[in-house]
This record gives sequence, structure tokens and C-alpha cells, in this order.
Amino acid sequence: MKESQPSAILLKDYKVPPFLIDKTELTFDLDETNTVVTSHLHMRRNPACGKSTQPLVLDGGEDIKLIGVAMDGYTLPSEEYRLVDDKLIITATADEFVLTCETLIDPQNNTRLEGLYRSSSMFCTQCEAEGFRHITYYLDRPDVMSVFTTTIIADETRYPVMLSNGNETERGKTDEGKTFVVWHDPFPKPAYLFALVAGDLAVKNDVFTTQSKRDIKLQIFTERHNIDKVNYAMEALKRSMRWDEETYGREYDLDIFMIVAVDDFNMGAMENKGLNIFNSSCLLASPETTTDDAFLRVESVVAHEYFHNWSGNRVTCRDWFQLSLKEGFTVFRDQSFSSDMHSETVKRVEDVSFLKTAQFAEDAGPMAHPVRPSSYIEISNFYTLTVYEKGAEIVRMIHTLLGEEAFRKGSDLYFERHDGQAVTCDDFVAAMQDASGVDLTLFKRWYSQAGTPVVTVTDEYDEQTKTYRLTVKQHTPATPAQPTKLSLHIPIRVGLISEQGDALTADFHNERSDDFVLHLKDNEQTFEFTSVHSKPIPSLLRSFSAPVKLHYEYTTEQLLLLLSCDSDGFNRWSAAQQLAVNELSQLIQQAENGDAFSIDSNLVAGFKALLEDETLDPAMVALILKLPSQAYLSELAEVIDPQAIKGARHFLKVTIANALAAQFADVYKKHVVMGKYQANAQDIAHRSLKNTALSYWAESADQRAQTAVAEQFKQADNMTDQFAALSIAVKTNHKSAQNMLTAFYEQWKAEPLVVNKWLMLSASQESDDALGAVKALMEHPSFDLKNPNKVRSVLGGFGQNTSGFHHKDGSGYQFLADQIIVLNKRNPQLASRLCTPLTRWKKLKPELSVQMKQQLERILAEDLSKDVYEVVSKSLA
Ligand code: ARG
Ligand code: ZN
Repeated sequence: MKESQPSAILLKDYKVPPFLIDKTELTFDLDETNTVVTSHLHMRRNPACGKSTQPLVLDGGEDIKLIGVAMDGYTLPSEEYRLVDDKLIITATADEFVLTCETLIDPQNNTRLEGLYRSSSMFCTQCEAEGFRHITYYLDRPDVMSVFTTTIIADETRYPVMLSNGNETERGKTDEGKTFVVWHDPFPKPAYLFALVAGDLAVKNDVFTTQSKRDIKLQIFTERHNIDKVNYAMEALKRSMRWDEETYGREYDLDIFMIVAVDDFNMGAMENKGLNIFNSSCLLASPETTTDDAFLRVESVVAHEYFHNWSGNRVTCRDWFQLSLKEGFTVFRDQSFSSDMHSETVKRVEDVSFLKTAQFAEDAGPMAHPVRPSSYIEISNFYTLTVYEKGAEIVRMIHTLLGEEAFRKGSDLYFERHDGQAVTCDDFVAAMQDASGVDLTLFKRWYSQAGTPVVTVTDEYDEQTKTYRLTVKQHTPATPAQPTKLSLHIPIRVGLISEQGDALTADFHNERSDDFVLHLKDNEQTFEFTSVHSKPIPSLLRSFSAPVKLHYEYTTEQLLLLLSCDSDGFNRWSAAQQLAVNELSQLIQQAENGDAFSIDSNLVAGFKALLEDETLDPAMVALILKLPSQAYLSELAEVIDPQAIKGARHFLKVTIANALAAQFADVYKKHVVMGKYQANAQDIAHRSLKNTALSYWAESADQRAQTAVAEQFKQADNMTDQFAALSIAVKTNHKSAQNMLTAFYEQWKAEPLVVNKWLMLSASQESDDALGAVKALMEHPSFDLKNPNKVRSVLGGFGQNTSGFHHKDGSGYQFLADQIIVLNKRNPQLASRLCTPLTRWKKLKPELSVQMKQQLERILAEDLSKDVYEVVSKSLA
């Protein structure tokens, strides 16, 4: 443990920057271990600070070496500046001046993957949130926006491609015979959007003609062996550009848009102005090597980063507390895009399912924070599901409250009012409110209050007066630093359905309809519907209109009715989930009590009807058949018993499999997709249902299923089918599972992204010595501790390995802690993310909980990075 611990930064301490940087001129003399960066910063005191004599304080990092600093050409002697805690402090400055700084950096040994670093044989950057200070001294904060000109100098034979933001304006030779390239970006931007890439890269070119008939040059760069895998991303990019014009009226602004794929990347991708940099796992795709899910992910990440050009770059964040301003809005935009490209219901089910599993868990744990946090120690820790996914739900609720048309007016006003500015979440809400006239004052509490509201609904029907009343209560449980909670403005979309399953109309607020949006604002409210001709079954929270936990005492019959009759596709799925959760809760209870398992047959009957109904959308059937995940059941549990949950799920799956083996076999055969592989909604739906059916069929006693798994593995012409067969073999202990894993590795060892899938699946394989197997994987030639994707594959897979990770002797937790300690200094961002499973320690059953806690304490005793310190100390608090 360190002597002094890092301190928190507070939203309430925000002050405008004392200096501005109108122009930033950078020169990079690239070298693997000794890159020299020269900056000329055209600075002036910020007029908003009045007459001030504050010193100039520039951000830096412990990994950059200051060679020299000059002001208006005058080299400062060492007594005229100070270096304190990575900051460069200059006391005497004019009101306007040019500051020149020379720094020396070592990209080759930059294992943090922040700032300028090497990945494979290329140079690349990652500057969000505070990476730029690892390149040169700067005012590294998003409200300092500057016009950048960047000169890159390198040996052209090794780095023929040299890229930065904006347009290439000049190219030539230096006196030493190296090549230089100059890039100029006319749009002022914060340093976090700066990017540089250099390497021997292949390129795919295309053109997009905008709505105003400007031709935009599109380029995707990869290492040479990957260039055949960018066609899908290129098409997705063009669809995104068109969609943003049609849906938000947003046209691209520069004449060129570039994307580069890199193998070593901490996150998914980055929206640098005109030069997006992607984790190759979010860009490369081919039918042979990429699953359907991964294709859809590529499409949505390409769209997400492209959409940031307006929601993030043209209008950016004032400070990092406002991160959701760009991330929540942009996730909402990419979700809407994917929904328009494929199936609205399927997309919504997938997004909500993820939110309810992972974001709800975060919001109920020690790292719970508001969508606009009010304090942080390390901002990298706040690129969270809360900021991204719950942030998107907030924007979606605004969309619901305003309606399509007014929402568009609001976004137009937002972009117009704040173009070129760094603003706050309040500014976003103000634009929405001003354009629509809808009062969002109370609604804004969603930004500042953490925790998932619990909404409890009861109802009564008066036969005599034909009146139906819904009484709705809300309550948000306490979260760290927020012991008491206020009531929120919650839009609840409700439909009424008759006992025969038909839509039931009612009068509500001078409107006759069968579908309403209720505005819950108080802790308790009663909503009255009149002229309701028979007793309704309420379809509550349609399309998941708010990120809340909903409680209503549905009977099994009512859930079955909703499952088969609700006109809201999302709620049909939701009813099925509730049925499965009810069944599983009983089984988990039985497992914990050591009782024999016994199940109700309702679910089996419901699934049977589903499998036999050929009129249904196969994608929906597949979604409904998927049992609630181990992670979701853990989130719902009061106390988590991983083995009990696993046992219950397995029992239910096998029971359904045996009861409906014939139906599964039949569905499996019916949904084989003929013809060439395509990643379109229709084919994806058939493959999804087919492989879900196989996953059940393979759990049954029917031996033919075993043959089908082996055949599919061997004959598949696409990764979706091949990997589905392999996963099923591993999960069902197929007699050839081991041989299949070996064959798969041999077949794909030259494709790192496929190898990552193999690593993950192998690490998740349950066995008596799961830990030994995982340790062996980390010694495997394909493993690389420097590559975040590989670390996440192995440790992520291991996290799903119940017998290994949750071993009662605590060895699984100890192993994870060991890895966190190793990575703590090498790559703090990655190390901090790996802590997530341990942050749930309080919810685990006591024997496991103490073991997890011990490991957190052991980590805390180390000399920690800010990243890991924040997560571990908050988890133990
Ligand atoms: N802005 C990027 C995106 O959402 C993510 C950057 C994350 N960077 C980080 N250091 N956590 O697309
Ligand atoms: Zn983003």
C-alpha cells in the first residue's frame, strides 16, 4: 500500500480553463523507443477568467521526458519552470504567447496502451480520456478545443502509411532523407480526439456521396493480411452515413474519413476526428472467421464511432463528468440504427437483456454511480455500462416523452445551438425541453441519482363502473454515497389485454386507446381507466419504456397469455423470461436446500407450442427459448450460490430437452440455411433458432443429436455454425469435445480473432482441474499478456467457469487476483476491468464471499495504479 492514496476529482469543483490553445502544431519524429515530439501551442489567457495571473499548469505523465521548453522562442532556464506530480508549471507568462515543448517518449515499451504506442508493427494512439498527456505537456481537458496541424516524420520504407486527423496538406523529404507528411484538421477539437497512425498498411478505398452531393473519400486500413476482411465494415459505414443524414439530418463534414484496425486496444474503438481507430475485433469480419453476433457488433461499432462525429466531436463534453452526453446519446443512436437495419424487437430484447444483466448488477454494487457521476478518482473507470447503456435509456425515455417529431426538433436545436462547443448534460436536456415545450425539470434527476428504481404495480377492476385502476409505486434502493433517494419521472408504457387475448380499449385522459404512456412522478400514484368492458390483463413497461425493475403479481396463466397474445413483441419475450425465472427460482431454492429437483410443466407446454407454431419469427422463438443466463440469475438472487444456479439451469435445460427432443430435432432440420452465407436479419434468425434447437437437442438422450453436433462442426462453411457446434460439444461434454477443440485450434491458429474465441471457450470448460487448464492456456504459444483481447478471452472465459472460478478453496479468486496484480502497472485500465467479478463479493454465499474479500484485501496491499485502487478500495468500503 502507498503512503498517500490518490484523491477524488469533484464535479462541483469545475472551473473554466485559465488558458486557451487556439492552435496546436505537433511534430512527431517517429522511432520505436525514442520518439521526439515537438509542440508549438498558440496560447492565451482565457478572457472568461477576467484579469488573472494564474500560473500555467500543463498535464503530463510519468512516462514522458521533457527535453526542453521555450516561450516565444526563448528557451526557459530550469528555474523558470517546475515539474511537480507529472505537471509542468510555468509561473510567468504573457497574456498571449507560443509555448514550445520537446518531449521524448518510448512507444515500444508503452504497455498501458494510452498515448502513442506500438501494436504489431505499427504506431497508433489512444488519447481518450487522458492519453494525450502521455505524448506531450498539454491542457488535457475536453473544454480546451484547438485547431491541430500534425507533421509525421518516419522512414518511408517501414512506415509508408502516415496518418493523422483532417486532410493531408503536404508531403516531402527531410534533410536526413526521411519522409514527412503534414495533416491539418480545420475543426477545433479537444486533445482526446487527436490520433496518429503509421505503418505498412493495406487500404480499401470507397466513396460516399452526401445528401448535398459532396464526395467523401472513405478508407479502411489494416495490416496486409487482413484487408480481405473489411468489406462488411465498409458497407456498414456507408449505411451509417446515409442513416445519420436521413434520421438526424447530419452530414459528414471533412472530405475524407479513415478507419484503422489495430490488434492491441483496451476498448472497442475510438472516434478520433476523421481517423477512427478500432480494435480489430470490432472491424474485421468474414463468413469463415466471424460469427453472426460479431458481424452485428462490427456494424454497430462502426455506426457508433461514425455517429460520434456529431454527437461527441462537433459537440463535445465540457468535462468528463458529462461523458454520457456523448456516450449515452451515441449508444441510443447506434441502437436505433441497428434496429432500423434489422429487427426492432430482437434488437430491443438483446439490449435490454444486457442492461438488466450487467448494468443492473453494476448499479446494485459498490461501484454504483449516477449516469453523470459527481466524483471520480480515475476517469477510465467511468466508461461504464451505467454511463453508456443506462445513459442511452435516459435518451430513449426523452424520446418517449417527446415523441419522434419533437425529439428530432430537440436534436436539431442541440446541434445548432452547441456546434463547436464543449457542453453539459443539462445543455442537452435544455435543448430537448426548449424545442418541445415538454417540462423535463423533474426528469433530470435520472442523471444525478444512481441505483435501479423498483416499480411495484397493483390493480383493481370494478365490474359495476367498468373502471380499471393501476396503482404504481416507486422506490430506489440506497447506493454508496446516496443513502436517500428522490422519486423519478418514469414513463411507463402500458397496454390492456382482455382475458381472451385481444387488445382492450379504455378511456384515459380524454383518449380512447389500448396503449398508453403513464407518467409516474410521485412515490405512489393511481391511474384510472374508464369504460373498460372487461377485466384487463396489463401489459406493463412495453418495449421496456424505462430502466426499472418491475413487480406485478402475474399468474402463470396470465404470463402464458401475454406470451402468446401481446401485440408488443418485447413483452411477449418478457413474459417468457418471467416464466423461466419463476421456474428457475424454485429449482435454485431446491438446489440450495438439497432437495430433489421438480418442475412445473407449464414452461414445457409453452415451449412446445412455440416450437410447433411455424408462423412465428424464428429470431423471436430463439430468444424466447434461451434460458435466463447464469449472470442474470445471479443479478436477481439475494445471495448468489453459483453452483445452485448452474445446477438448476442445467436441470431445466435437460428436462425441456428430453420432453421436446423430437420437436428440437425437427426445428433443427427445418432451419438449416441454404446458399451462400449472408449476415442479414433473416439468415441470422434461422441460424440462431437452428443452433438454439441443437443446444437443447444435444442435452437430450437422443444419440442422433451427438452425431448432428459432430457433423455440423465438420461441415459448417461459416464460423457461426462451426463455433455453435463446438460450444455445444464443450458444454454438453460431447465425447469428441476435446478432439474438436484441438482440431479447431489447428484449423484456425493463423487467425488471432478466432484463436481468441478458442481461448475463451477453452477457459470456460468445466472440469475437476479447470484452474490447471487455464494456467496452461496462459502458457500456450497463442497467448500474449500484452494483448487485451487475449487476456479478456482467457480470464473472461474463466469467469464463466463455475467449478474453476468459484472453487470452494478460493483458488480461482486467488488466480484472478494474481493476474490483476501483474497487470496493475503494465496496463492499469485492463487490470481495473478485470476486478469486476470480485466487486460482487458481498452478494456471494458466505463461504465464497470471505474468500473473494481476502483477495481484494490482498490486492489493496499492493502499490496500486489509480485505476485498480479506486475499484478495489470502493469495493471494500
Ligand atoms: N469514446 C470511445 C467510444 O465509446 C471509448 C473510449 C474509451 N477509452 C477509455 N480510455 N476508456 O467509442
Ligand atoms: Zn462512444
